[in-house]
Amino acid sequence: MSARPHLVDSHGRTVRDLRISVTDRCNLRCTYCMPAEGMPWLPHEAILTYEEIARIARVAMECGVTGVRLTGGEPTVRKGLTTLVRQLRALSPALDLSMTTNGIALRELAGELREAGLDRLNVSLDTLDRDRFVALARRDKLADVLAGIAAAKVAGFAPIKINTVLMRGFNEDEAVALASWAREEGFELRFIEWMPLDFQQQWDRTKLVSGEETRAAIHAVHPLDPAEGDDPSAPARPWRYRDGKGRVGFVASVSNPFCGSCDRIRLTADGQVRTCLFALKEWDFRALLREGATDGQIEQLLRDAVLRKQPGHLIGQAAFRQPDRGMSAIGG
Ligand code: 5AD
Ligand code: SF4
Repeated sequence: MSARPHLVDSHGRTVRDLRISVTDRCNLRCTYCMPAEGMPWLPHEAILTYEEIARIARVAMECGVTGVRLTGGEPTVRKGLTTLVRQLRALSPALDLSMTTNGIALRELAGELREAGLDRLNVSLDTLDRDRFVALARRDKLADVLAGIAAAKVAGFAPIKINTVLMRGFNEDEAVALASWAREEGFELRFIEWMPLDFQQQWDRTKLVSGEETRAAIHAVHPLDPAEGDDPSAPARPWRYRDGKGRVGFVASVSNPFCGSCDRIRLTADGQVRTCLFALKEWDFRALLREGATDGQIEQLLRDAVLRKQPGHLIGQAAFRQPDRGMSAIGG
């Protein structure tokens, strides 16, 4: 449906992937993301309506975007999410429509989301140990997450990907157990390096477990080979288990950044476009829409934003500044 020229930035990268945060709220309080209490939630009128979201998505798709991922906060805590999925699916049968979720609501929603046209699911899960889950997410919800993942399988989602963040001294000893579990269940696990994106700015490089270290630990137990069909703009480097039991990925965002092939932009729940997780500048689409903008004006602001997409993040360098907003307010 690409009736308008593609969105190309000043470094020659073409935008294909739009990540839409539908809410900044969540039913967990993961320590690497949010404080235990007192999160300043966005007021309802600040949040884009589903119609406003679908309109921005449509213009982006007319400019060559082929994939949309719904994120949060936790996307399923927003009422009527299935309605948005249906609206986005109606834009194009070819759209690659996915969602990142903590899984808690899937027992209830997996079937209707699938039926409404959601293609793919990523479920976040950092531990299989109930006490650790409570320590990390500050809620006793591991059983709900596992039931949700099982429901997603029954609903026909395939592949189901699991996102895991390892932190040294907390759960890095579970890398192999998580990989073994995912292999047996038929899920594709992706280890994501811990990034400086929490509200409390407590990121500590010494606690980061690199993708390479994790890969070596898994390889020692379940031998791995590089997988073919490697899409350079996909953040996870895929590996294949030598015994044929599926794949596993490593998103080395910090130790081996893939910014040079990044093809994504993000829309926050309050209608700001960010061209990088670590961007310090946002583009106000909510104001534009609510002033009665034409599709052409939406397209123009997308072009302006994309043209200024930064070449990459500067994590670990002196010039790095952590954005004011945390992951839950930006969208993962
Ligand atoms: N670093 C890396 N990954 C993170 N996530 C949330 N916060 C961080 C962080 N600071 C992950 C979640 C989820 C996805 C949206 O991003 O676990 O899987
Ligand atoms: Fe919620 Fe995800 Fe943040 Fe955990 S990481 S508190 S599940 S938004």
